[in-house]
Amino acid sequence: PFKIFRDVAPLRSYRHAQLLANRTVGLVPTMGALHDGHLSLARQAAYENDEVVVSIYVNPTQFGVNEDLDAYPRTWDTDIGMLKALNAELRKDGARGQIKAIFAPTTKVMYPTLPPSSEIAGDGSFVVITPIGNILEGASRPVFFRGVATVCMKLFNVIRPDTAYFGQKDVQQTVVIKRMVKDFHLGVDIRIGPTRREQDGLAMSSRNVYLGTRRRAVAPILSQALRKAEEQYAQGKKLRADVLWHANESMDRKAGEQDELPPAQRARFFVDYISLADPETMEEVDEVDEAKGAILSGAIKM
Ligand code: PAJ
Repeated sequence: PFKIFRDVAPLRSYRHAQLLANRTVGLVPTMGALHDGHLSLARQAAYENDEVVVSIYVNPTQFGVNEDLDAYPRTWDTDIGMLKALNAELRKDGARGQIKAIFAPTTKVMYPTLPPSSEIAGDGSFVVITPIGNILEGASRPVFFRGVATVCMKLFNVIRPDTAYFGQKDVQQTVVIKRMVKDFHLGVDIRIGPTRREQDGLAMSSRNVYLGTRRRAVAPILSQALRKAEEQYAQGKKLRADVLWHANESMDRKAGEQDELPPAQRARFFVDYISLADPETMEEVDEVDEAKGAILSGAIKM
């Protein structure tokens, strides 16, 4: 079914063989703790390529000092089981390709010269994409996009995929990666898959396990607010204030409701941002240009 690679050289020779055989390779980069969002990207890759490589690597350089690097869920056996099951499905459905390789490097392999102390902010070789990487998610998480761009550059250099797949859930990440590919002439086709959601609208995420019951019950307010803004746009509103008003109002109201509840019952949150931005620069727009479209995104902190 698939081979698991932990080092660069053997993966390179696998890739070289595919290149000589004129077979296209699609890459799906992940940090593991797989769910349907990841699997839908791998499925798409299998329909659009002769071979699929899935990388599983919890990348330390994209975590801030006070973030969840140690706590990040690691579910290797289940992940491998899910990818095998997906391959069986793909075979049954007659998909063009299948998952042929898992790349699961150690940090020594991924960052051969980086001392552990410099993972967060010290010296090293990094890919920095500004200003896109410093705004929105990047404003709350200063090293995040530097870490993402750096590890994706490494993955692209090791695997040399024809196409790489990213989820729209992390929309700013897709904009940063597209910019990196363009500016560094990487020649990788970037494809974006739709956000997979739970029944109640919450976007699937490896981190949803952190929420607990109370916060989990309140979390869908973000997707509900985004839907409200989407509806306004669908009804012909173009101005920022008109598109975002209901979304902002509903979030503020629900935050207020939670604040009123007794401490043992409430799941407090605050709105980090609701953004309506240019699709290539992520800069806020005052009015949506219909031809270009705009990216609507948001974040709340619980
Ligand atoms: P990770 O959070 O594991 O996500 C891997 C890929 O799956 C990303 O492209 C992400 O956008 C996509 N994804 C996650 N949840 C999704 C959902 N609900 N629906 C659709 N796609 C979803 O994002 C990363 O890892 C890392 O930053 C990485 C790109 C691997 C670099 O380390």
